[in-house]
Amino acid sequence: PIKVTKICCIGAGYVGGPTCAVIALKCPHITVTIVDLNQARVDAWNSPDFALPIYEPGLVDVVKQARGRNLFFSTDVDKGIREADLIFVSVNTPTKKSGVGAGFAADLNYVESATRRIAAVATSSKIVVEKSTVPCRTAESMRTILEANSKAGTHFDILSNPEFLAEGTAIVDLFSPDRVLIGSLQTPEGKSASQSLSDVYNNWVPKERILSVGLWSSELSKLAANAMLAQRISSINALSAICEATGANIDEVAHAIGFDSRIGPKFLRASVGFGGSCFQKDILNLVYLSESLHLPQVAAYWRQVVEMNEYQKSRFSKTVVDTLFNTITGKHIAVLGFAFKADTGDTRESASISLIRDFLSERAYVTIYDPQVEEAQIWLDLSEACPTLTLEAIKKQVNIVHSAVEACKQKEAVVIATEWKEFREIDWQTVYDDMSKPAFVFDGRLLVDAEKLRSIGFKVTTIGRGERL
Ligand code: NAI
Repeated sequence: PIKVTKICCIGAGYVGGPTCAVIALKCPHITVTIVDLNQARVDAWNSPDFALPIYEPGLVDVVKQARGRNLFFSTDVDKGIREADLIFVSVNTPTKKSGVGAGFAADLNYVESATRRIAAVATSSKIVVEKSTVPCRTAESMRTILEANSKAGTHFDILSNPEFLAEGTAIVDLFSPDRVLIGSLQTPEGKSASQSLSDVYNNWVPKERILSVGLWSSELSKLAANAMLAQRISSINALSAICEATGANIDEVAHAIGFDSRIGPKFLRASVGFGGSCFQKDILNLVYLSESLHLPQVAAYWRQVVEMNEYQKSRFSKTVVDTLFNTITGKHIAVLGFAFKADTGDTRESASISLIRDFLSERAYVTIYDPQVEEAQIWLDLSEACPTLTLEAIKKQVNIVHSAVEACKQKEAVVIATEWKEFREIDWQTVYDDMSKPAFVFDGRLLVDAEKLRSIGFKVTTIGRGERL
């Protein structure tokens, strides 16, 4: 196997940035260059005061140690490609918006154009690693493109190395991953390329955590892992609806079933629904794949995981309306949290967006606070979510503020949409004193101590608990 000394990563996003920054930190003998077409993003990665384009706990520290030493960010994609022995393709693969498979299939445009660029400019042999989450057999298409366009004497090996980090804990996840998965063709060349990448990870990841499998297994495992994780959330959320109807308590149920060692305690927290750029997109990919393979029952099974999530979000909006005496028109609601989960500024597919869209369609006034999300991002997301409203009209109904306490002032209701730790530490007595009465709290994340809030005077509604305002 060749010894990797120069790595290029195409795509400086939520995955490419942290992943390759950690490789640079852990492998000082390897030069890592992360390239992206987006000049503003690259400038932010290079900013002197480390105002990085993404928020991730611990990331600034990693970049501080490695940047300028053996970690570089650049928009010179061609140079990055030419100089590297190993190239990660870590570009975005959103759900297609139009054409065949619209709404389900992955848009592989970015992967394809990155691949074509590699073929066009490479003058020596490369190991090309598919890091983006892609449907089964994309590596095969990449290989076809590379082989059809390569110059004489250049050879490409394709690996699949899906990323399992979770936003919000990316650095911890990268420092000690549960496993690193490497898929390759089971030919001598394929296995040798797989060994080269394995040697990179082995600088800090123990050998027994590096799994080598076939290409298609690797690609499918990433979709499967996300589908199974999301399925656990939809399962517990489905049970939360039963709890609300019967008076059972979802925390107690989750605790009880999580004690079963076959089930385990993680990922059993009921909530207003999952978000993020990956779960929904990857399940829809699996649904599309199943349909393409003429497996309609399999497709329907996985589709239900997404449908349950949509149901959970709209069920929560409806609870808010019902509880506020069946109308929120003209009422003032504080929404705490806009990111799709805590410890990230990422808002893609955030449940908060769906809730606010529903509140706006009922003509309520909404005040938003999130500790990390930029104001411009909120306006962008709301404009996209409410295509029938102009931005001007949205701004008449929505206000963005800079603290939780400020958001709640004089409101009729507070909705907790993201599980930011600071929302647990809010001075609820102060909030209560400043709110209209009766003061309602809707906890979409099982975050606050409902009993404590009730003793202050709040009417509290919690996911997965019966009517005990
Ligand atoms: P992102 O949108 O944050 O970053 C992708 C970057 O690629 C963008 O900055 C874009 O400008 C750049 N790009 C696109 N085409 C390019 C080209 N031809 N040349 C150079 N740069 C180009 O996306 P993110 O979240 O990093 O996701 C990347 C992939 O990783 C996706 O396939 C996603 O499904 C997967 N993934 C994401 C995880 C997450 O938590 N966000 C976790 C695991 C996998």
